[in-house]
Amino acid sequence: MCGIVGYIGSRDAKEILLHGLEKLEYRGYDSAGIFVINEENNGHLFKEKGRIAALRSKVDNAVEANAGIGHTRWATHGEPSVRNAHPHQSADGRFTIVHNGVIENYQEVKDAYLEHVDLVSETDTEIIVQLIAWFAETEDLDTVSAFKKAIVALEGSYAIALVDNTDPEVVYAAKNKSPLLLGKGDGFNVICSDAMAMIKETNQFVELMDKEIAVVTREELIIENFSGERIERQSYTAELDSNDLEKGTYPYYMLKEIDEQPAVMRRLVLKYQDEDDNLTIDPEIVSAMTKSDRIYIIAAGTSYHAGLVGKELIEEMTNIPTEVHISSEFGYHTPLLSENPFFIFISQSGETADSRQVLVKMNEMNYPSLTITNVAGSTLSRESTYTLLLHAGPEIAVASTKAYTAQIAVLAILSEVVGSEKGLIKEPNMIQDLGIVANAMQSLVDEKDTIESLASDYLSITRNAFYIGRGMDYHVALEAALKLKEISYIQTEGFAAGELKHGTIALIEKGTPVIALVTEKSVAGHTRGNLQETKARGAHTMVISMDGLDRPDDHIVIPKVNPILSPLVSVIPTQLLSYYCSLHRGNDVDKPRNLAKSVTVE
Ligand code: F6R
Repeated sequence: MCGIVGYIGSRDAKEILLHGLEKLEYRGYDSAGIFVINEENNGHLFKEKGRIAALRSKVDNAVEANAGIGHTRWATHGEPSVRNAHPHQSADGRFTIVHNGVIENYQEVKDAYLEHVDLVSETDTEIIVQLIAWFAETEDLDTVSAFKKAIVALEGSYAIALVDNTDPEVVYAAKNKSPLLLGKGDGFNVICSDAMAMIKETNQFVELMDKEIAVVTREELIIENFSGERIERQSYTAELDSNDLEKGTYPYYMLKEIDEQPAVMRRLVLKYQDEDDNLTIDPEIVSAMTKSDRIYIIAAGTSYHAGLVGKELIEEMTNIPTEVHISSEFGYHTPLLSENPFFIFISQSGETADSRQVLVKMNEMNYPSLTITNVAGSTLSRESTYTLLLHAGPEIAVASTKAYTAQIAVLAILSEVVGSEKGLIKEPNMIQDLGIVANAMQSLVDEKDTIESLASDYLSITRNAFYIGRGMDYHVALEAALKLKEISYIQTEGFAAGELKHGTIALIEKGTPVIALVTEKSVAGHTRGNLQETKARGAHTMVISMDGLDRPDDHIVIPKVNPILSPLVSVIPTQLLSYYCSLHRGNDVDKPRNLAKSVTVE
């Protein structure tokens, strides 16, 4: 949430910052700004409401500057506006900052130190920059000392980049909880929330850790802790292919990412295969899971929905009881835990603050944990005991698609390996099953025309919609409903088919779209019966069924796959329905309103 960039070197800082912000736009896009400065101390601030494209058109191309900071915002305190857009400056104009995170004690800080200052914005960020200026002036502190003193007074999450107009040869940075990377170049250095932003400039990055300060010049990256001790940290090579970050010929990233899913399935099988072509998982993870008496899956949003499927896979293949929890609930209302719990965090970004607060608490209790994530080196990956990667390639559309299916596939591989280790699975066949899934996915992504016309027929003018199903199909119904509502803005519910009649069926009226998922033999008849009940009350019904359970009037029939893997395939038409519905409504498919991809605030 919110993206930060910084650059100091000898090239045009404006262009590097704007390009970096374009790559970070997935983190928030309600306003944006840059501050650039040159060696003659001429600073220029540009801010605009809306997208980076709007900011770009406002930036004066004639300005020459070779250092600066930039920000793309997802509003927390204060509406999206130019006034609330970052960077923010101190009243004396000396300090300029950008900030990602939430300062929880901003009111207390304001009351304690800043009563004399007329704040110009409604943001918590402005408090930080005014506080730095206050300490620098009243206590005659140098910039690093004033910066440290200010952030020690703050509670909450922050990733900050700071420029002091009186010394344009340095950019400062600090972080707590929110992610921040320092990038090393030849004669320049950069700062960014995500390596994607600066991969065009460098692939060498150093992680800044919580409660550290970085002093960044053209030649050097100095990291120190609050006591002033210098910290030496090796850089790592970010393995990002800049081609993966482009849309190519696709109109939207979401469509590209939906189409990539068969390839991701095949890649995962290769990544988790040993030289003998058997699936393999780090034996330490297998042993930790085998020893545990209960698994707790912690996740948010789409990743939580993948977790619901994961529970079924783990219980079916390993016999280990498994619970799935929404991370924002679990941390503050922790249930009674078993004696030997094992935690699995599922997170595409590996940065979700709600999940991280649970991990921090579970680490304090010394419980073992595994993060399943798409981003190597992400916060959750670093802070958990073990990591398994999704190998899905960067997911840029805000609505998650390929990460969801990759999460389920990794959980399936993990479950089969643990189940085999426990002697519960005699003839492992996940490699073949995932191959069949990949082919089935391919046949569905090739059916775009049919799905596009169903989207026009069912979803073009409706106000609300339902997905229903039982068992695995219910889990997919939840995900399908989230996908549809987040990018089409249609109020959609995912519902347990049998539960509708206990109240919610009151919402069905003439023309309400109700889409049933039917891939599980034992409950197929019941789900169809529940769909008929809605049809009798005027619903406009659609069926997505699996080959072998299909009936002549079904609208989409997915190829037959191992039923425990059906979510990997049945979700594909629902992703495409959401995509086309959003497209037909004229929405920005990749950047739906009010959302951001990496949710780094609680
Ligand atoms: C929906 C979506 C979100 C995320 C959620 C968790 O399409 O993408 O619901 O799944 O914000 O994010 P991660 O997986 O990064 O922890």
